[in-house]
Amino acid sequence: MSERLRPGEAPLDAHGLPTSETIALLHRRVSVRSYTDDPVDDAHVEAVLRAAFRAPTSSNIQAYSVVVVRDRETLARLAPVTGNQQHVADAPVFLAFCADMRRMEHAITGLGSDLEDNNLEMGLVTSIDAALVGMSASLAAESLGLAGVMIGAVRNDARATAEILGLPRRVYVVFGMVLGWPADVPAQKPRMPYASMVHVERFGRHPDGATMEGALARYDRELAEHYRGQGRPTADDSWSAETAKKFSVRPRQKLREQLAGRGFDFG
Ligand SMILES: Cc1cc2nc3c(=O)[nH]c(=O)nc-3n(C[C@H](O)[C@H](O)[C@H](O)COP(=O)(O)O)c2cc1C
Repeated sequence: MSERLRPGEAPLDAHGLPTSETIALLHRRVSVRSYTDDPVDDAHVEAVLRAAFRAPTSSNIQAYSVVVVRDRETLARLAPVTGNQQHVADAPVFLAFCADMRRMEHAITGLGSDLEDNNLEMGLVTSIDAALVGMSASLAAESLGLAGVMIGAVRNDARATAEILGLPRRVYVVFGMVLGWPADVPAQKPRMPYASMVHVERFGRHPDGATMEGALARYDRELAEHYRGQGRPTADDSWSAETAKKFSVRPRQKLREQLAGRGFDFG
């Protein structure tokens, strides 16, 4: 374990940029959907979650809970909610990262107030808290040699997911995560060009004059090449075509209503 480094002390990577084990881990990461039969024991799950719970949390509210699921029957019920994702049904372990307003509610009702008409900000901060814990858990898991994939498809039916996991009101699953010991590790998906994602001082001033349109055209070609290399057919304008197709019809139209039913108004 490295001590806290001072300026200039970090080793440099091949591009002359400061690097570290964590940065190298991030550069290696990829979603993995195929696992060996080796179990993920309780000690690994606890180590991952204890580390993840050190994530920053808005106003220290710690508005998250994690349901750890191993039961085959529960997973068999969850998989259809996710569109029958096989890696959910076969998950060595499934972690459900929940936004949880119950502790806040407990504190608030002590003051004679309540959480009725909780607003958009409360929905966001609790969901962001859960997401930060989820990403931290993912990194902690990968640092131990585990691998996995986040499962947003639990929100296909937030009500059913809540029922299957026995969630009380004021709790919903932001996303799940399958973790296991990796069997097949796919090639990394390329990311959009760095310069097109970064703006210097003001939005739109990219480091090397990159434009969004130019970057997208380049990325469409790179992603198409990547998918074809994986034997997956795709359009020439791969990312643009798939994104347009997926989001031209608004996804999960019942979600607001379903989350309101869970006690998250997002109002
Ligand atoms: C919040 C969230 C939800 C996701 N939901 C799913 C999912 O339901 N099923 C799945 O197979 N992958 C899911 N993914 C994984 C993404 O598809 C994946 O991260 C993306 O395609 C980029 O690939 P990479 O992680 O291998 O770089 C999800 C990722 C995130 C961040």
